[in-house]
Amino acid sequence: MVTVSPLEGTGAEVTGVDIANLSEDELAIVKQAFANHGVIFFRDQNLSEDAHIAFARKFSTINLNRFFARHPDYPEIALVVKEPTDDFNIGGAWHADHSYDAEPALGSILVARQLPPTGGDTLFASMNAAYEALPTQLRDLVDTHSALHSGKHIFARDGAYERIPDFKGRIGNAEAGDELVDTVHPMVIKHPLSGKPCLFVNPGFTIGIDGMDDEEAKLMLLALYEHAGQPQFTCRFTWEPGSVAFWDNRAVWHLAENDYAGHRRVMHRITVDGCSLEGMNSTIASRSATV
Ligand code: SIN
Repeated sequence: MVTVSPLEGTGAEVTGVDIANLSEDELAIVKQAFANHGVIFFRDQNLSEDAHIAFARKFSTINLNRFFARHPDYPEIALVVKEPTDDFNIGGAWHADHSYDAEPALGSILVARQLPPTGGDTLFASMNAAYEALPTQLRDLVDTHSALHSGKHIFARDGAYERIPDFKGRIGNAEAGDELVDTVHPMVIKHPLSGKPCLFVNPGFTIGIDGMDDEEAKLMLLALYEHAGQPQFTCRFTWEPGSVAFWDNRAVWHLAENDYAGHRRVMHRITVDGCSLEGMNSTIASRSATV
């Protein structure tokens, strides 16, 4: 029997399912759990690459990652790898994947393939819980403003990944990073699946607030990040062989811990396409930046 057990902070663990062989009824429960909780976890799965791809396709079309190294036999699968000799990991600070796209990715399904003996957990933070608990001044700000998102400072030729030699072979295609077009999204979105208000700014990719000067925007964003990263909105997932996490980028932030120096960690990630986003009152919608 499928059981959905909510976790403290955010997310839920789904047990009693083999996600490589889901019945229609089980799939409906998994979809509902995903919409309700923003990130769901499975244990003890035996998911081949083909089954990983088939599971992803039940949710949306697969987004072929522009920047991550791809699995040599399965281009749909992005490799999230850290070698024993690497200092930096991929995704080691709070972020929401693809928020810089006009239609940000729905989410990602991450499968553990090789784990360090300890460490390498992934943290998730609920942007609905963070929004609901905002102090009035910040809530008024986010309810009425949009924010500017960019991936250039991360993926372009002069971006963070290019400047750190460690990432060579793991992240590339900086030419595509140069071509990215900045995007404006509401600071609070009406979540496309749950309808709940979710804070939609993140430390990885949000670079400004529409109509606000840079200094003021920076201070406001820092205040929002400090609030949203508080432990009561977060959960920590400790990976085991056979673990799978499926998160919604519009509902949660995530952060990969980098605390396993000298060990290899290999994860397979499939990201699926999302849709354009609307604000809660639908007068604010996503658009390309004109700056
Ligand atoms: C990521 O997709 O940001 C990496 C997550 C992880 O490796 O745990």
